Amino acid sequence: MRICRNISLKPYNTFGLEYMADTMIHVRTEKEAKALFNGELSWKKPLLILGGGSNILFTGDFSGTILFPAFSRIKFEEHKNEHVIVSAGAGVEWDKLVEWTVRMGFGGLENLSGIPGNVGAVPVQNIGAYGSEVKDYITKVRTISTTDGKVRVFSNDECRFGYRTSVFKKSEKGKYLVTRVYFKLDLNFKPNLNYGSLNEEVDRLGQPTLRNVRIAIINIRQRKLPDPKVIGNAGSFFKNPVVSRIVAEKLLKSFAGLPLFDDPSGNKKLAAGWMIEQCGWKGWRIRDAGVHEKQALVLVNYGNATGKDIFDLSEKIRISVKDKFEVNLEREVEVTGTI
Ligand code: EPU
Repeated sequence: MRICRNISLKPYNTFGLEYMADTMIHVRTEKEAKALFNGELSWKKPLLILGGGSNILFTGDFSGTILFPAFSRIKFEEHKNEHVIVSAGAGVEWDKLVEWTVRMGFGGLENLSGIPGNVGAVPVQNIGAYGSEVKDYITKVRTISTTDGKVRVFSNDECRFGYRTSVFKKSEKGKYLVTRVYFKLDLNFKPNLNYGSLNEEVDRLGQPTLRNVRIAIINIRQRKLPDPKVIGNAGSFFKNPVVSRIVAEKLLKSFAGLPLFDDPSGNKKLAAGWMIEQCGWKGWRIRDAGVHEKQALVLVNYGNATGKDIFDLSEKIRISVKDKFEVNLEREVEVTGTI
């Protein structure tokens, strides 16, 4: 366990915001985590569990304890007919895991290539991109209860996954520290090329092999999404809103061109990026807070923005989308601190 005091959060949030935290604890083993939560050790509340910091907006210094799960190692667990089970510690960088699965010839996670963040956050918000959602590959999630330090393993069903959500973001928020995630992957890889230009992108590279799908995804991401190492951002700031078919048809009559997607619930998902662009925000900049010039769903920090600058810009965007489309945008990014 490593305990740091008075620590800069800048390297710990992909917006690159300069705030301080009282205490940060790097936890490397379940034994250490248990000691933190069964009362053996004391620490200052509130507690914030931070992964790669790729989905968080700090709006001020954090006066409490930040827990950084540093559980490492990718493990090959077992081989079952055409499948393999692999697991990864919560502190493993997500894309390192994806790269490894692709190298090993295990299919499933390749469309989720290039997503910033660590494995521990992956089930919490059920990451998704380019026609894949991680919930379809997770078999179980091992955790430690933050109330008594006991191990609890959640089955896929118990995680109650939804679009960018799970039980860990809702009823059990803050109650469990994810330590290890288990994935069921395919030995008979079947490419999923249904998303927009993915098929063409893969075609250009040759055969639809696991490796080519990964390269194609990374190419598409690089064209549209800013690299947080270069421009601070946290990916999509808002979720794509889900509305009933009736509402979607009504909107389409007034706004021809509005991209609509089927949602598994039978409702329709609207492209928030398109709506934000229609409101004139794409490429907008107020001081150092901005709307990405190639993807209006992504808010960026050009260098010296504050969390409040970004939050205020997001609220202006939310209001203008509400005024124009009568649709509420819900944040995907978690806001921490007073606003
Ligand atoms: N669009 C615009 N203008 C924009 C942005 C998008 O017109 O500025 C249109 C696009 O042309 C397209 C549609 O909106 O017709 C959807 O855009 P895109 O495919 O870029 O994806 P998205 O819906 O904006 C979602 C995820 C991303 C994920 C991509 C690709 C959410 C909130 N975001 O974005 O995930 O990478 O699909 O699958 O669901 C993230 O969660 O942080 C994230 C980046």
